[in-house]
Amino acid sequence: MIHCPVLVRESLEKLAPVSGGWWADLTVGAGGHTEAILKATEPAGRVLGMDRDGEILVLARKRLEVYGDRLVLVQGNFQDLATVMQAQKIKALSGVLMDLGVSSFQIDDPARGFSFLKPGPLDMRMDRRQSLTAAEFINHISEKEMADVFYQWGGERHSRRLAKIIARNRPLTDTASLVRLICRVLRFHGRLHPATRVFQALRIAVNDELASLERGLNAVAEALADHGRIVVLSFHSLEDRIVKHQLRDKTRWENLTKHVVRPDRDEIHANPRARSARLRAAVRRRSN
Ligand SMILES: C[S@@+](CC[C@H](N)C(=O)[O-])C[C@H]1O[C@@H](n2cnc3c(N)ncnc32)[C@H](O)[C@@H]1O
Repeated sequence: MIHCPVLVRESLEKLAPVSGGWWADLTVGAGGHTEAILKATEPAGRVLGMDRDGEILVLARKRLEVYGDRLVLVQGNFQDLATVMQAQKIKALSGVLMDLGVSSFQIDDPARGFSFLKPGPLDMRMDRRQSLTAAEFINHISEKEMADVFYQWGGERHSRRLAKIIARNRPLTDTASLVRLICRVLRFHGRLHPATRVFQALRIAVNDELASLERGLNAVAEALADHGRIVVLSFHSLEDRIVKHQLRDKTRWENLTKHVVRPDRDEIHANPRARSARLRAAVRRRSN
């Protein structure tokens, strides 16, 4: 399935792109937001695009090739933005977009192991050059650590019972075996699949998502020019809490979203993945 970009109009409204200068999309994915920024910065704006996932960048590169050298795509974690800018000889950014989480492209490919609905290897790496997979992680941590991860990063109330049954049945190598074990302990909660929380927690752990986000936001604060803007889309409360906290720092940021921006009913109807999206934005203020 093609990834449908979320809150595009609202993101551009807050980013306020103009022609000229360097702009960045730090989570290019299939390139929906990147393309919107490229169009909005015509004819002279340049865009730096980053993504941890090299496979998705191949698709994005193809989709966006018509923009020629106005677009530079680099595989990497946004926490390493400073190094990437240095290598590309970019001094400062006029605006930055971060659309967090995973792309439909990653979820829908069973070989990536992100989905509890599709049998596949227990992988979940956004960057396949990384050695730690979800299988490595779950097969080597202690039962107690596993329960903590499920509880803290998945909000899973039955974390201990789940960790116990999983620890007893290790090693696990595929998503279907993990889902079967989870379903021995938990039932559907309304429409929520019993494996939702464990899979979220594992994905966050394997990709070190929350620490990357903290470091990434700091890197963006350093990279933005005075009056440069940041727009962040997050999809669960742990991410949103980090973004909210960082953008509250009045020595660095002037908040543009006193109230978080959410998709309207029409967007959620057209794209159910948008349901949990929250947009926050701010302007970088540099004192002399
Ligand atoms: C929700 S998707 C982005 C979708 C994109 N806006 C579009 O229109 O197609 C999130 C993307 O961010 C990437 N990503 C997540 N964390 C990252 C990080 N720390 N550094 C760089 N990319 C990251 C994922 O690999 C994924 O492709």
